[in-house]
Amino acid sequence: MLTTKEAIAKRRSIRKFKSDPIPDEYLFELINAARLAPSGCNAQPWRFKIVKDQKSKIKLAHAAYDQSFIANAPAVIVCCADISGYLDGTVSGIQDLGKIGAVEDNIVQILLKRAGQLKVYPVEQIGPQIAFNVAISIEHIVLRALDFGLGTCWIRLLDGQKVNDIFGWNENIFTVALLPIGYPAEDPSPRKRLKIKKILL
Ligand SMILES: Cc1cc2nc3c(=O)[nH]c(=O)nc-3n(C[C@H](O)[C@H](O)[C@H](O)COP(=O)(O)O)c2cc1C
Repeated sequence: MLTTKEAIAKRRSIRKFKSDPIPDEYLFELINAARLAPSGCNAQPWRFKIVKDQKSKIKLAHAAYDQSFIANAPAVIVCCADISGYLDGTVSGIQDLGKIGAVEDNIVQILLKRAGQLKVYPVEQIGPQIAFNVAISIEHIVLRALDFGLGTCWIRLLDGQKVNDIFGWNENIFTVALLPIGYPAEDPSPRKRLKIKKILL
């Protein structure tokens, strides 16, 4: 098992995979890691679809502007936001936070007002707004995957409508990213990163 520090340092975007299947118990552990992520008001808007069948993986690669390596991964996790789940989860989450005294009453009122305002937004605006909650859960998967020797690659270059069409989902589901996953068949060097001096404002 890697330390968090080791996992962060070791992680790379993996775009070449061995064909070995991923044991279901590992996939379960990964979704559990996602489930434990923090989210605004504890709304937990993340939803995941694990795709292993070749036809759907090829369709997903097409939906991602023909990034063909996606179809070569033994599994692809489609990482989504459930918009109505978010709106409902926000209200109950705020109430829970108020009940346990984690946030003050005035903050509860501000959060409830904001949650109400969010409901009038069109879904295409809410999706991107709540996507960062899902992003945190995705990165939990990405880092936990290293404990099982698995590699992943975030895929955000995608056409969400095409992804929805593959699975017959309505506009309530907003795809945040695809995550092809499998045992790495490459060992990429670290990509360049900005120096600490450059990122401190
Ligand atoms: C939000 C996000 C979207 C990304 N989308 C894509 C993508 O569509 N296709 C791809 O090949 N890589 C994608 N990447 C991977 C980045 O290219 C990669 O993280 C970056 O080059 C740094 O390399 P590293 O992950 O190996 O450190 C994405 C990464 C993130 C975090």
